[in-house]
Amino acid sequence: MEQNLNQEILDKITKVCLCKAIPKAKIKQAIRKGARSVKEVQEATGAGSGGCGGRRCTPKIEELLKQYGETWK
Ligand code: FES
Repeated sequence: MEQNLNQEILDKITKVCLCKAIPKAKIKQAIRKGARSVKEVQEATGAGSGGCGGRRCTPKIEELLKQYGETWK
């Protein structure tokens, strides 16, 4: 329980897309709602449309898709 709470808080404060200040929680929510590719996650969250053009956040989104995409099918 406390572990889950800590994870939730961490997910809210950990930014995946630094340019757009998109937290990990929002990326995970998009995956949970059915986004299955980087493009779908980006469309759902706005990540990747910042100044770096997604160079910094795309690898992190790919990693999260790998981590959670399968378990939340
Ligand atoms: S970190 Fe996501 S667009 Fe730059």
